[in-house]
Formats: sequence, C-alpha cells, structure tokens
Amino acid sequence: MSLRFTLSLVALACAGLAHATTTQEPIQPIQPAKVSNPAAVELGKMLFFDTRLSKSGFISCNSCHNLSMGGTDNLKTSIGHGWQKGPINAPTVLNSRFNLAQFWDGRAANLKAQAGGPIANPGEMAFTHELAVETLKTIPGYLSAFRKAYGSDEVSVDRITSAIAAFEETLVTPNARFDKWLKGDKKALTADELAGYKLFKDSGCVACHNGPAVGGGSFQKMGLVEPYKASSPAEGRVAVTGKDADRFNIKVPTLRNVELTYPYFHDGAANTLPEAVDTMGRVQLGKKFTAEENARIVAFLRTLTGDQPRFTLPILPPSADATPRPRPFE
Ligand code: HEC
Ligand code: HEC
Repeated sequence: MSLRFTLSLVALACAGLAHATTTQEPIQPIQPAKVSNPAAVELGKMLFFDTRLSKSGFISCNSCHNLSMGGTDNLKTSIGHGWQKGPINAPTVLNSRFNLAQFWDGRAANLKAQAGGPIANPGEMAFTHELAVETLKTIPGYLSAFRKAYGSDEVSVDRITSAIAAFEETLVTPNARFDKWLKGDKKALTADELAGYKLFKDSGCVACHNGPAVGGGSFQKMGLVEPYKASSPAEGRVAVTGKDADRFNIKVPTLRNVELTYPYFHDGAANTLPEAVDTMGRVQLGKKFTAEENARIVAFLRTLTGDQPRFTLPILPPSADATPRPRPFE
C-alpha cells in the first residue's frame, strides 16, 4: 500500500471520528420494551402487586416502588414490616434493567437475583421463600398463570423471580422530551434546558451519568472531591468486595424520571433537585454553580421524564381456604 494511500486512509478515519464525536451524545434514547414472554410479564405484574408475598399481607413490591410515583416511595428511607425504619433510600425500579447490577452497592447481579431479596428480608416483606411458594401453590388462579408462562403448574422461587424480572424488564420510560431532542426534534427543548444540558456535559456530570439511563453504568466514589457526610451507615460497594478502596463507592443512579424520584441520594438526604445538583457540583466536581446555572441544569434534568409504564391494574386471584393467612402484627 502506498504511503500516500495510507495517509489518506488515516485522514478519512480521523474525519469519520470527528464526525462521530460531534453527532454522538453521551446519552442515548430509551428504547421501548421488547417482550418475549407476555404471559411471564403478566404473572410478574401480578406478583409485583401481590401483598400475599409479605408476612403482613400488606406490603408488595409496589408499596416501596410505587408505579404511580416514579417507581419509588418518595420517602427518605422505606418503611418495612412492622413499620420498621429502612436503612436506605429506595431507588426507582423504572429503567432498572439498564443497571450494571442492582442495589446501591450492586450486591445483586441482575433483576432476577434481586427479586428474591425483599420477600425474605425481615426488614422489608419479612416472608420466607418457602412460604411464598407454599402460598402461591394454594391459589388456583396462580397455578394457571404459571402454566401459561412456563408450561406447567410448578411454583418455584426461580419462576417467581424470573416472572418479576420479566415484568421489570418492561418498566422503561421512552419518549422523554430529551429523547425527542436526541432523535432530531430540535424544538423539543427550550434554550434554558439546552443550556442546562451543555452545562451537564461541560462540567463533567456525564463522566458518571451517561448511557441510555443517564447513570446505572458504574460504581463511583460519593464525595470524590469533598467528603460527603452521609446520614446512613451504608458504605457502598465495600460491603460486597471487602476492598477498602470501594468504601463509599456507590452505583451511579439513573437520572431518568429524576423529577419524580425525590428525595435523592442513597441516604435520601437531598429533598429537592436544586439541592442534589448543588451537592453533586460540590462533592463530585469541586464546582459551585450559580443560581442560574443550577436552575438550568435542573431544567434539563426535568426533560428526562419519559412515558410512564401504562397497564391495567392486575386483578389478583383470590386466596383459597388452604392459603396461609397474613400475620401483620407478628
Ligand atoms: C419495604 C420497602 C421495599 C419493598 C417491599 C421492596 N423494595 Fe425494592 N428496594 C427497596 C430499597 C430500600 C432498595 C435499596 C436497597 C439497597 O440498595 O441496599 C430497593 C432496591 C430495589 C431494586 C434495585 C434498584 C437499583 O437501582 O439498584 C430493585 C430492582 C427492587 N428493589 C425491586 C423490588 C421488587 C421486585 C420487590 C418485590 C419483590 C421489592 N423491590 C420490594 C425497598 C423495597
Ligand atoms: C464522579 C461521578 C459523578 C459525577 C461527576 C456526578 N455524579 Fe451525580 N451521582 C453520582 C453518584 C455515585 C450518585 C449517588 C450518590 C449517593 O447516593 O450517595 C449520584 C447521584 C446524583 C443524583 C441523585 C439521584 C438519585 O436518584 O438519588 C443527582 C440528581 C445527580 N447525581 C446529578 C448530578 C449532576 C447534575 C452532576 C454534575 C454537576 C453529577 N451528578 C455529577 C456520581 C456522580
């Protein structure tokens, strides 16, 4: 190959790169859900709303991840069985399929692995996996739902958690105004919102908050530049890896639908978006935003609210005579 030809190839490649970097944004649109097993999704939806998976018969996944409220409980920390004070803020289940792992410290590898946790957690639903299986087995309506989803009546923890995960896979929020802008509708954002996005990029927020979920892709130190005094004893990823370097490494949360998912941070310490943005600027980037800059970034963040999942509320099959009864006060 002649030198000249090689050089022009390099020039072409560079031109291609330059083009790619100007047109490629660090955030990508959310794609609508693709459903491969609709019967499993239906079953998972029923289980997500079913309070019979808790000891009290009163708590369901939806109690703390309310799909009418952005997939959260809007509480600083959740309330579990017997009105117990939870240790940490409940993250949204919306778009959780984009997370590299589940929980603030990433201790569950995926949605299926996560779904078994709360049922048996004494501070959450306070049930056991055996009792969950026993309970569902007695309910004829569930047996037919398991059959439709998985081909037989067998009720197992594996099938319960698979179905819940299949439902959660559908909890995506496409068509945010920001996504319309990304797809070329330049009128979808106001000048202030666009200025906010530019600040979000230029200040360095996108180093951690990127990808389709605007987060969820990595663990990062909370308090990179300035220490963050958390009001929760949780220390992040060190709980999983045991490595001192992972102390206060926390999964970067998604910023999709962030206007709905207050209060903010793993300890729920920031009540409002302006407060959360101010803290982030300070502790992660060593930046003090002016009131105007803060307002612009917040205006941009509010454009990340997408279409909320829409479905008919599942009607749950009634308990049978043999179904174990709830024990709310034990
Ligand atoms: C009592 C309140 C409560 C209940 C009930 C509950 N959760 Fe959670 N959920 C939380 C809290 C708090 C966290 C964060 C815990 C942590 O990171 O240590 C969480 C984390 C999650 C996450 C991880 C999200 C992320 O971004 O890391 C998913 C997914 C989830 N829950 C789904 C479920 C499902 C499915 C159920 C029902 C089987 C359920 N939850 C029941 C409070 C609750
Ligand atoms: C070094 C990585 C990093 C940078 C840079 C960063 N963030 Fe964060 N962000 C995080 C982590 C980690 C959390 C979770 C911290 C926690 O819960 O303790 C977070 C949490 C948030 C939250 C709260 C979300 C929720 O649901 O609780 C908002 C809002 C936010 N960031 C916005 C921003 C903005 C705006 C910027 C730029 C000014 C920014 N972040 C820069 C890593 C980063």
